[in-house]
Amino acid sequence: MVDALQRAAQLRALLSTYSYHYYVLSQPLASDAEFDALYNELRALEVEHPELITPDSPTQRAGSDLTEEWQKVRHAAPILSLSNAYSEEDLHAWEERNLRLLPSGTQLDYTLEPKFDGLTIVLTYENGILTQAATRGNGEVGDEVTPNIRTIRTIPLRIPVHPESPPPPARLVVRGEILYLKRDFEALNQRQIEQEQPVFINARNAASGALKQKDSRITAARPLSAFIYSVVDGEGLTLDRQWDMLEMLRDMGFPTAREAAHFPTLSDIIQQIPMWESRRNALDYEIDGVVIKVNDLSMVRELGVVGKDPRGAVAYKFPAQEAATRLLDVVVSVGRTGRIVPSASLDPVFLGGVTVSSATLHNYDYVKALDIRIGDQVIVKRAGDVIPNVVGPLLAARTGEERAIEPPARCPFCDTPVVRPEGAVDVFCDNVYCPERVYRQVEFFVSRGALDIEGFGSQTVKTLIDKGLIKDEADIFSLTADQLLPLDGFAEKKVQKLLDAIATAKSRPLERVLTALGIDGVGSTIATALANALPSVDLLENAEPETLSSIEGVGEILAQSIYAWFRDPYHLQVLDKLRSAGVTTQGMAREKSSDALAGLTFVLTGTLPTLSRDEAGALIESHGGKVTGSVSKKTSYVLVGDSPGSKAEKAAQLNVPIISESDLLGMLENR
Ligand code: IVH
Repeated sequence: MVDALQRAAQLRALLSTYSYHYYVLSQPLASDAEFDALYNELRALEVEHPELITPDSPTQRAGSDLTEEWQKVRHAAPILSLSNAYSEEDLHAWEERNLRLLPSGTQLDYTLEPKFDGLTIVLTYENGILTQAATRGNGEVGDEVTPNIRTIRTIPLRIPVHPESPPPPARLVVRGEILYLKRDFEALNQRQIEQEQPVFINARNAASGALKQKDSRITAARPLSAFIYSVVDGEGLTLDRQWDMLEMLRDMGFPTAREAAHFPTLSDIIQQIPMWESRRNALDYEIDGVVIKVNDLSMVRELGVVGKDPRGAVAYKFPAQEAATRLLDVVVSVGRTGRIVPSASLDPVFLGGVTVSSATLHNYDYVKALDIRIGDQVIVKRAGDVIPNVVGPLLAARTGEERAIEPPARCPFCDTPVVRPEGAVDVFCDNVYCPERVYRQVEFFVSRGALDIEGFGSQTVKTLIDKGLIKDEADIFSLTADQLLPLDGFAEKKVQKLLDAIATAKSRPLERVLTALGIDGVGSTIATALANALPSVDLLENAEPETLSSIEGVGEILAQSIYAWFRDPYHLQVLDKLRSAGVTTQGMAREKSSDALAGLTFVLTGTLPTLSRDEAGALIESHGGKVTGSVSKKTSYVLVGDSPGSKAEKAAQLNVPIISESDLLGMLENR
């Protein structure tokens, strides 16, 4: 029995360390299988000796159905809220008000923290063990949700997580926020769709729902996360600064925001805000602003509270990214590749600083999975530069008058029956002569990212197609002044300018021409890689998928799609017309010194003694060799310098010869 007791304690400690490294630090110490084996051993011990189960046992994260009605708990100290600021002026006014209340000459420094868009949680640890978790409730009394909170992997059941950290106070109450990481929320909704269950429209509400489940096994199946940002009560703890408090929380093993920062003045903080606004969409979690806190906690105490808001902190709120509005109709558009995309025509709504009246519905599978209907109240999201999209319908607001949205049977522009390639989520118009497709393709062909023909706007494209002067993008090169002059608004000067710009575009470099062709998946980066590897349209046209997929950045699927593009008679016809018009179809000849390294593939790692990595790469290529980014069995040599990365290890594992810079130079001399 003593053995079982000791072993259980040992297993709990190991599993908790492994979990912390896995979930909080994202640096696993053990394989999943090792973890599972230890976990199962602990489970077995606990089944045999239930008296060994402790509240901090990792097995308690699985949830149980034993929860009765929520118990009410009175918070150790009021769970305060925050006052809001919306502008720089608001922040200055906040600081000035505070300075007036403090001894003259006081200098304030601040922490800048993300304002997590989740739910407040208050955690109590007694002698290091999580004994209670409660919601904010009305700030004085909250609901006890301990079994549910135990299911959240990033919340330590026992602190400190690292044995070497200082012991926690006998009683520690901390406060934080429960939320879904963006990727977990997306995965959760993906699962809902697969199981034909309604999707969650709003991450915060969904997190709240998961937290308040009566059966904690349901909570356990929901991938909630947590961030802890302050100490509400800590017996015997003397903390002078918010910044130290954050550090202490992190040291104890609590999940804290890596992005939190400390600045000496409010001006520094204000300078940071635009960066936070733009970084907002790149964060793993949703924020609705930032929180600015006076760092000196004795000053925070001195400043006190107004109503429920401490004066020592303020929330700077960002503009909302979501709003509810009515979906009035669905507009169908056809892109240059023939992809048919439904978009929502919306009752205009002010969102993130602009009026939004249309938003994408992605595709008809999405519409169906979310059961979006015309007439629905929908949530629209506009995150930064991303095209606004319809997140989902508000089912509770349905009146029964809503109409289902079906994919069109025929292309709305050319009446060709639509097709749906196997495995695709989209439906397509496969008529290459579809006027809408031609319009979109020509519009793209002349655009800034492609051939960049100045003065060739969308309206001009439309007019030329309507008048029958062009049938595809290659036709623009045979336009004449006689054809253009009779058109409305085309005076002599404008016509000459346009014709000159078209003539100039003929000699754009090959990668531009490849981009302009509009091959699905071939943007400017891939086009450049293609033009470097196979520097002519003829070479590309004759390349096998295997050759194409050996090009940097080109996967098998893309290789197939490029190969198929060059097999389409319509595209070949366009290419012929481009060739006869004198458009660039050859790449610039690159200087080649020799063929000494032909057929050899190199990977570079570490700092070389004389050459820079770029110089070494150029040298290899100029002698016919190839440089790739990662080591595989196909790699001929790994060129290693000082402080090499893992590529040198990989080379050793795969038995790929390792050479030095002087070996390389030797190879060039010897051949
Ligand atoms: S501090 C007295 N810090 O925002 C301290 N709150 O709008 C008050 N929140 O109820 C809270 N991130 O739930 C603080 N880094 C953060 C926060 C944060 C999100 C929430 C908190 C609060 C609400 C106020």
